[in-house]
Amino acid sequence: MTNSGFAPADLSTIRQMDEHVVHPWASFDRPNKSRTIIGSGAGVYVYDDQGNRLLDGPGGMWCVNVGHGRQEIADAIAHQAAQLSYISPWSHPTAPAARLADRLSSVAPGDLDHIFYTTGGSTAIDSALRFCLFYNNVLGRPEKKHIITRHDAYHGSTYLSAAVCGKPRDKNWLDTQLDQVHFVSSPNSYRSAGGLDEAAFCQKLIAELEAKILEVEPERVAAFIAEPILASGGVIVPPVGYHAACLEVCRRYDVIYISDEVVTGFGRLGDWFASESVFDITPDIITCAKGLTSGYVPLGAVLISDRLISNVGGDGERGAVFSNGFTYSGHPVSCAAALANMDIIEGEGLLEHAREVGPYLQQQLSTLIDLPIVGNIRGLGLMGCIECVVDHDSREPLMLDYEVGNRIDVHCQKLGLLVRPLINMCVMSPPIIIDHEQIDELIRVLRLGIERTIDDLKKEGVVGGL
Ligand SMILES: Cc1ncc(COP(=O)(O)O)c(C=O)c1O
Repeated sequence: MTNSGFAPADLSTIRQMDEHVVHPWASFDRPNKSRTIIGSGAGVYVYDDQGNRLLDGPGGMWCVNVGHGRQEIADAIAHQAAQLSYISPWSHPTAPAARLADRLSSVAPGDLDHIFYTTGGSTAIDSALRFCLFYNNVLGRPEKKHIITRHDAYHGSTYLSAAVCGKPRDKNWLDTQLDQVHFVSSPNSYRSAGGLDEAAFCQKLIAELEAKILEVEPERVAAFIAEPILASGGVIVPPVGYHAACLEVCRRYDVIYISDEVVTGFGRLGDWFASESVFDITPDIITCAKGLTSGYVPLGAVLISDRLISNVGGDGERGAVFSNGFTYSGHPVSCAAALANMDIIEGEGLLEHAREVGPYLQQQLSTLIDLPIVGNIRGLGLMGCIECVVDHDSREPLMLDYEVGNRIDVHCQKLGLLVRPLINMCVMSPPIIIDHEQIDELIRVLRLGIERTIDDLKKEGVVGGL
């Protein structure tokens, strides 16, 4: 047996069997047979098929916030599964779902007191958007159904949530329903500010949002959806005041503001939710998933304001039914895991911890700027990104062909670190329990991985000027 719990003889069998698995973002002409099989995890580390220890830089997929191998969550899952594994959420409340809803509403900003459970992030986005359509039907405004979103956004992989994604490559081979969806610019100051200072860039973005609402017509715009920090788009932190100004514009035109906190929630930015504490907004709807259970089991949630719910409820006697739900909405086992996860975050002071180590991660990441292919380093809290370019002045990205993110990842894995490659970027979202020493380790290996990648690129003559 290796440290990760595999008998070595099993490995080739597992690889063979894995050929039946269609992985997310599969390329059928280039099946990836060289992926590392991960067998176990503890804290910020996972162990690969050879028993090698790897620091989990992406925290699973922005989700393993309290770290791997937490017995408390495993016990809560086992206990709930033995006590009551499932009952229909259509017909019956359960204690874990009710307790979790009460707890979420108590830590949510403002009047976001109504919790709709989903199976993950995409279904939370889908449900939030469907709620906005439902809302306007109930209010007798059937034409108010258009949605504004942003370039570089990632909101999920169901049909509707994918339609509000703004990453162009993801749409190369898949159709999305576009007639009700409109895009405004990404708040990416590195790529799109065009020499404007932060305040002027912010003003430009806000003017664009308002112009878009006016162009589509306010009577036809139902919702604006935004991640507080665009995560999979490359950890794009908007200019100061951006979200508050967007919310103001939305309020002016009676447009519902959906804050997609699937990544930014549950400690990643140092609070349960980042909308209010970091970005000074109380949105109408928050979506969350991932860190809600630290990825131990699937669960998502849509938090809806009292204001919206009371507008479609009360004495109207309209007989309206929000016909949206999932067999596993409020799954008792998932809710029990989320409660145990919140107990850990609270009991171990992990929000305070994240607020303390987040700036250290950012400061240490910023030391990598001396590397010749590192063009931009950005992030906030425990989210970070390095973007690689041919040279600092031209900002010309090293494009997909060079697979620079992948190459860095391959080198880093050999050195004991998982990174999340995104074309010419590497994004970081380690478990929020990470400490200073482990951040030092992450940065040391990342530097070495980038240096080795530069050596390869030089040898291949890809970046001759380095
Ligand atoms: C901001 C954001 N929203 C929604 C989603 C979709 O979540 P899921 O993959 O759980 O469906 C993701 C996934 O990465 C995300 O980053």
